[in-house]
Amino acid sequence: MRESFIIEGLAGQKILKGSVKIAGAKNAALKAMAASILFDAPVQLNNIPDTEDIHVMSEILEKLGAKVVWSQNSLNIDTTGISSTVIDPKLAAIMRASVVLTGPILARFGKVSFPTPGGCVIGARPIDLFINGYEKMGATISETDFNYTIEMPQIGLLNNSTNGISGTSAIGGQSRSETDRTGLGNPSAIQIHFDKKTVGGTETLMMAAVLGGGTMTLMNCAMEPEIVNLAEWLNECGADIQGVGTETIMINGTGGKLLSPKMPYVAIPDRIEAGSYLILGALCAENMTIENCRPDHLALLIDMLIKSGVPIEIINHETSMSSIKSAGPSGQIFYGRIIITGNTKPNSTFKSFDVSTKEYPGFPTDLQAQIVTYLTQVTGGSIVTENIFEGRFKYVSDLQKMGAKLELIDAKEVSIVGPAELRKEHMDTHHQSNDGLDQHLNAHDIRAGFAIVMAALVGKGIFTVNNTYFIDRGYEKLEERLTALGANIRRVTL
Ligand code: UD1
Repeated sequence: MRESFIIEGLAGQKILKGSVKIAGAKNAALKAMAASILFDAPVQLNNIPDTEDIHVMSEILEKLGAKVVWSQNSLNIDTTGISSTVIDPKLAAIMRASVVLTGPILARFGKVSFPTPGGCVIGARPIDLFINGYEKMGATISETDFNYTIEMPQIGLLNNSTNGISGTSAIGGQSRSETDRTGLGNPSAIQIHFDKKTVGGTETLMMAAVLGGGTMTLMNCAMEPEIVNLAEWLNECGADIQGVGTETIMINGTGGKLLSPKMPYVAIPDRIEAGSYLILGALCAENMTIENCRPDHLALLIDMLIKSGVPIEIINHETSMSSIKSAGPSGQIFYGRIIITGNTKPNSTFKSFDVSTKEYPGFPTDLQAQIVTYLTQVTGGSIVTENIFEGRFKYVSDLQKMGAKLELIDAKEVSIVGPAELRKEHMDTHHQSNDGLDQHLNAHDIRAGFAIVMAALVGKGIFTVNNTYFIDRGYEKLEERLTALGANIRRVTL
């Protein structure tokens, strides 16, 4: 079923108003779901966004033999009955984050099979840093055209005859003792230096070492808040992970003891969703409050927008682990707010700036398409450089069709001159094919999808945005939330 959004552009008027409550971060929640495999009892995960990626990860866990119950933005996951170490190839092909499951599966069972992972179409997304890391941990890796099998029996906690796992090698029919698991038995014996900062790689190798028998040091780690969110919870439940949020992480393995769910996991607010709505508000809203967010996770974007001329107020609210604990399983946790207030001047009064994407705390690649769209509306020239993923400018041709003045300099850089009026008329005049499809806009990936919806809202005319599936993967109930702010957007099946 192909679904599209029909959006009535506001023609530059700033008439949206109200508040948006930010959901839990999908990129954090997915990793906590994978980590449920490290536990000896069912785990409770709270503040989980109702997005497609979360449901795909639930299905993958179910195929492994876990029980997953979804209820009102919470998940209860019981992995005690896992009966397979083979990650479902069809589901994994949909979502690259499935590769993070390899860490916890290896930690617990010593073996995993998985396909070359899929995911967003944002250029080559290799997994060499994972594979190199597993090799340094002593794994045996066999690779066919579309599949990897990794064995690391020295850290696998259980074996098939005690646990009914399909495909793992039986070792004496008993659980291994702490002293058997020699691979991680020599403190500091394993040091892994990532050649490139990788979010998924950092999280995955961290989880692979959590149950081991010694110490592993990871260097040149990614420092994203989602990694901190995961490690803080694991530490509360029996793990010993030091240095998270810095470039060097040290994991002291539990020596074979599974983690215990001493407290529920609570996903941090989604900084990318908050940033996306903030940019949208800057272009289309007179007054808008972004609730339930962590402004400190968006410091660079907020600073850039304020310097550009957007009237923004920040209310930070300290959120510590103790405040999360005292809130209890269903209690309310207070986060911060970002408020756009009195945003009445035309977008052309805002000033342009250059952007270069970088690992956290740099400018997130996941906000690159949204900020390019913003820059098409403000006055001046800008260069936006994409340093994380190649092939992340596919949406540029859609903005050009609408009348935006921007062009690709090369695969990494786009140059923009603003402001330009975005109009459906431009698309009607310039369309070339007879199928009429180039009169439609496209969501090329999750974040570019949001950017194109935003461009349609700023523009003049009625726009159709195809491939809403991508947007649904990362944004909870987008059309409902935009409608609540006063936008005219509806979902149709074409
Ligand atoms: C995560 C986020 C994604 C975000 C990205 C960068 C999730 C589910 N997704 O993706 O939304 O855009 O971080 O902030 O959390 N690389 C290699 N070899 C590897 C692994 C990565 O070369 O083995 C490269 C990638 O191609 C990319 C860079 O490292 O150029 C960073 O990728 P990485 O941080 O791993 O992204 P993800 O964890 O997949």
